Amino acid sequence: MTTATARAYPNIALVKYWGKQDEDLILPVAGSLSLTLDAFPTTTTVALDAATGTDTGTDTGIDTFSLNGAVATADATGRVTRFLDRVRELAGSETRATVTSTNEAPTGAGLASSASGFAALATAAAAAYGLDLDRRDLSRLARRGSGSASRSLVDGLAVWHAGDDAHSYAEAVAGPDMRMVIVTVDTAQKAVSSRAAMRRTALTSPFFPAWISSTEESLAAMLEACAADDFTRVGRITESHALRMHAVIQSCDPPIRYLAPTSVAVFDAVAALREQGLEAYSTADAGPNVAVIVRPEQAEDLRDALAGFGSVRLVGAGDGARLIDAGATAAAEARPGAGA
Ligand code: PMV
Repeated sequence: MTTATARAYPNIALVKYWGKQDEDLILPVAGSLSLTLDAFPTTTTVALDAATGTDTGTDTGIDTFSLNGAVATADATGRVTRFLDRVRELAGSETRATVTSTNEAPTGAGLASSASGFAALATAAAAAYGLDLDRRDLSRLARRGSGSASRSLVDGLAVWHAGDDAHSYAEAVAGPDMRMVIVTVDTAQKAVSSRAAMRRTALTSPFFPAWISSTEESLAAMLEACAADDFTRVGRITESHALRMHAVIQSCDPPIRYLAPTSVAVFDAVAALREQGLEAYSTADAGPNVAVIVRPEQAEDLRDALAGFGSVRLVGAGDGARLIDAGATAAAEARPGAGA
């Protein structure tokens, strides 16, 4: 049996990805920028099932997927199988796999578990199937599972480029040192998936074209702010861009609102703390939880100030997805140069 295990961390976007120009290839309408975290990892093992391999010609067409010790839903397993089909196509294999995953973040609550999930799966599956992909091609491969997963291949700050299939990958950018306080106000599964909500926003929001052009401007400004090591500018762009994303999401038909009253209260509290000299800026993904960036020296004060709003966790910049156990992968099986 050929197995490989990888670990990946979620990332939180400071310039958000919201909208696809190609749903099949998962190409974004605009670039985005994120911070890979050092908490809430997903660890995934991909074990190829020898009994259903190409050699025997007895392919049963079934991958199995378990998440946090339980057999995953048919939907989740289908998504994993579609992703593995892409890997099998690259590897010239029909071998099915057993995928075992543990995820330390609350799944589906806007903490980007799909990012860590597909980054870990891409890394483990590429190794198990003997693909020899560099980090850029692994980022492109992870993108096919979930767009934001492309960024979890990268350590710390990552820019994910818009473009065609060959050019839409994430890579590292230098920027100010920062910490993030994650305020988990609700761990329930979100009502509308980001995939469905992005589609609805693009199809029905009258503000969608403005959202795209403003994201392009925000990304250009963010890259300048990062290059200038300017935490204040990074923070201002982060907060206003997040509120613009939630505005465009709320403007679709039927409307979707991810922020809960407590989420809004956290944004307000952070704005009030800024007035008092604690410089921090809020953002939130497709869920009610709020991530607040802060300078390292004020991080503990911020965490203590936000403790009343939910469970708080102080995190920093983490590593991109890594193989932690290459198991029985035979070097002879590697296919150097196979592109994702
Ligand atoms: O990659 P997906 O389909 O999980 O979408 C992620 C969307 C946001 O988290 C809201 C924004 C982002 O850039 O991560």
